[in-house]
Amino acid sequence: MTKPRLFRLWLVLGSVLMILLIIVYWDNVSTAHFYLHTSLSRPHVLEPLPTPGQGEEKEFTSDVDEFLDKLLSSGAKQNDLARKKTEQPPVLASGKPALSHMEESVRGYDWSPHDAQQSPDQGQQQAERRSVLRDFCANSSLVFPTKERSFDDIPNYELNHLIVDDRHGVIYCYVPKVACTNWKRVMIVLSESLLDGGAPYRDPLDIPREHVHNTSTHLTFNKFWRRYGKFSRHLMKIKLKKYTKFLFVRDPFVRLISAFRSKFELENEEFYRKFAVPMLRLYANHTSLPASVSEAFSAGLKVSFSNFIQYLLDPHTEKLAPFNEHWRQVYRLCHPCQIDYDFVGKLETLDEDAAQLLRLLKVDTQLHFPPSYRNRTASSWEEDWFAKIPLAWRQQLYRLYEADFVLFGYPKPENLLRD
Ligand SMILES: *[C@@H]1O[C@H](CO)[C@@H](O)[C@H](O)[C@H]1NC(C)=O
Ligand SMILES: *[C@@H]1O[C@H](CO)[C@@H](O)[C@H](O)[C@H]1NC(C)=O
Ligand SMILES: *[C@@H]1O[C@H](CO)[C@@H](O)[C@H](O)[C@H]1NC(C)=O
Ligand SMILES: *[C@@H]1O[C@H](CO)[C@@H](O)[C@H](O)[C@H]1NC(C)=O
Repeated sequence: MTKPRLFRLWLVLGSVLMILLIIVYWDNVSTAHFYLHTSLSRPHVLEPLPTPGQGEEKEFTSDVDEFLDKLLSSGAKQNDLARKKTEQPPVLASGKPALSHMEESVRGYDWSPHDAQQSPDQGQQQAERRSVLRDFCANSSLVFPTKERSFDDIPNYELNHLIVDDRHGVIYCYVPKVACTNWKRVMIVLSESLLDGGAPYRDPLDIPREHVHNTSTHLTFNKFWRRYGKFSRHLMKIKLKKYTKFLFVRDPFVRLISAFRSKFELENEEFYRKFAVPMLRLYANHTSLPASVSEAFSAGLKVSFSNFIQYLLDPHTEKLAPFNEHWRQVYRLCHPCQIDYDFVGKLETLDEDAAQLLRLLKVDTQLHFPPSYRNRTASSWEEDWFAKIPLAWRQQLYRLYEADFVLFGYPKPENLLRD
């Protein structure tokens, strides 16, 4: 090798090293960069809420993305290798209800006005919810699995509920049975991730349900590997630091009733085959079961709420596969002790919370949160639903979902847990 060649080689190696160093320290670099160019101040929930009407848009499609895209397209091969090693999402039973549009026709829409006026209490309420969350994450008297692990230890496939919108700098962790269809619709409108005849959707309600729940519609954290390879964790952490992160929760027991109603009381082929058939075999002594859900329903073969609870409490259930997302605990879907959520919405106060959040994100002039179902599962039904469930099961069930109760400030349902 001649000397000039050797020199050039070193020059190239040096540049590559430099680029890598920049990426490693990108956090600091980009912070300065963001502040200089976009005068970005992350919306903090504790700050006074912005007044409606100042909806200037922030472009978040970050330089980090573009930079990494360019850099990584050249190093794609290495990424493939890295990905093969790390990306191994197990076959989770993620609900893709074929008949789920039935829910919409079965339950009427509530067209009541949902533009709740902003009250000064709302900022206070968010501060309280977040402080309860933080306190119990730090409190060692509350113990639950995975509590102590760090963000880096969360496997990639468990980050599949975090939807990212780079245009506005928003991350939404979706929890099934907590208005997630409509929040996913909002995320599609915000991120313009789905086109309708060439133009992005503007009205959340125009988006067909089957597109809303198609995972390829959303950019989720678990897909970062494909794009950014080994830099993906680092990039996630940058986004977690800079973006507004929110989730919506609801009373855990009421969520279970809601899951049961929509997946086992309505005809749902997928949930019948995957879950109802094994439940009927194991917990109701049925040996020969029809192949389709409509045959089963007409023969009067339905999973009872009690079968469902027994299934949840059966230790074999988790051994076969992690809980389906419709009944998986929120702390396992959204990692609230690893991710510092800026906004904790509740289904019980959905209309007010949705309006407040959209104002906070400065998109309230651009879209409205779709109205919610009239026949929503109500908390007041709880006693009736649990009346036939043995006390010992109720107590066991509470322990299974205790972390969700405590972290999100839902009172322990004492009336159900005592004789
Ligand atoms: C932790 O939680 C328990 C039970 O709610 C409470 O009694 C205790 O005061 C908490 N500890 C701290 C340090 O907050
Ligand atoms: C999801 O969307 C992708 C891309 O639009 C499409 O190819 C795929 O068939 C859809 N999947 C389902 C289950 O509809
Ligand atoms: C199912 O069958 C077993 C044994 O035949 C019996 O002990 C059990 O009580 C039955 N369970 C139900 C729910 O009928
Ligand atoms: C609401 O749901 C309950 C239980 O699923 C059902 O009995 C009732 O008829 C429904 N009401 C309406 C108005 O659809």
